[in-house]
Amino acid sequence: MTILGIETSCDETSAAIIKKEGQTLTLLSNVIASSLEIHQPTGGIIPENAAREQVKYILPVIQEACKKATVSYEDIDAIAVTYGPGLIGSLLVGVETAKTLALVLNKPIIPINHMVGHIYANFIRVISNLKSQNAKLDARCSMLDATIFPALALVISGGHTDLLLMKGHGDFILLGGTRDDAAGEAFDKIGRLLGIDYPAGPMIEKLAKQGNPKRFRFPRPLIGSPDYDFSFSGLKTAVLREVQKLSSKPYTLNPNDTADICRGTQDAISDVLVKKTLKAATEYNIKTILLSGGVAANETLRKQLELTARRSLLDAKIFAPQKSLCTDNAAMIAAAAAYNFHPVPWQEITANPELYFD
Ligand code: KG4
Ligand code: ZN
Repeated sequence: MTILGIETSCDETSAAIIKKEGQTLTLLSNVIASSLEIHQPTGGIIPENAAREQVKYILPVIQEACKKATVSYEDIDAIAVTYGPGLIGSLLVGVETAKTLALVLNKPIIPINHMVGHIYANFIRVISNLKSQNAKLDARCSMLDATIFPALALVISGGHTDLLLMKGHGDFILLGGTRDDAAGEAFDKIGRLLGIDYPAGPMIEKLAKQGNPKRFRFPRPLIGSPDYDFSFSGLKTAVLREVQKLSSKPYTLNPNDTADICRGTQDAISDVLVKKTLKAATEYNIKTILLSGGVAANETLRKQLELTARRSLLDAKIFAPQKSLCTDNAAMIAAAAAYNFHPVPWQEITANPELYFD
């Protein structure tokens, strides 16, 4: 089965082609156009500007995805599209394009929750030039096909920090989520204080490598709470206080101070995410932990989770998508549809910016 995925929930415009054979998903193409440069001067996304750019990109991006996969419109068996959560203008571009294609080409259409899409990035096998990119990924796929449930999904993105119990495909129970800022949002807001361009996560990770881990110990909100909720807005306030102590406005920190703050920030966010995830994994007798979302690209977090799990003798296998599939992309949307093939009449699909887990 060949699925065209379409993703336009935030500033990216993406289309991908995925082939499902048995239980294996193979990525044939994944094209992403970003309007990031136009948002960088403002340090965040201006929704109207994002949607205006997406209108320009959507059709060329879909055509490019088909071309790269050497797939024609006739070869496509179904269209999957993100219908929420996200920015309303951006979502509408993808949803209306997908509905039009479904009607004109007479193809089934499957609406996908963006957050569910992130989780399914873990199920994609990536090939390059028809040769598997690395053996580890293939091994991962066969393991996923065997015994993965009950799984624990940690979705950590710019808009969400959610911990979910996954009992089967499409079967989610929300264990907890953020009460204020999401993990990625905390990276981005702290980055802004430090003069780091949006999205700040990758640069904070890079600078943290040179940072002194002992200099700043920022708060770890809710780390010991009995629930699975998160809160990161206090962290941002604590960082602001340190920045104010070190420099007067406009803040100009020396490189050492910046690196040390980056290290303190990353350690605080990682500690909370790791502690709560492993606590849930133990409580629910989890077989696999599936990391996803932009923050899952953070190598230090991945390693800390792996190491702490091993130290606490937890059996659960830990997976994270290839880094390029952690941030927003259409491949994950097509992958989610492949495992949750529930077409809906196109007339019944509407963009839902507030969509959450049922
Ligand atoms: O999943 P995503 O692409 O978009 C949303 O659905 O929100 O996530 C984007 C977020 C941004 O906040 C970005 O700063 C963060 O992911 N991010 C990272 C890293 N790469 C991206 N955070 C920490 N470390 C990274 N390496
Ligand atoms: Zn996302």
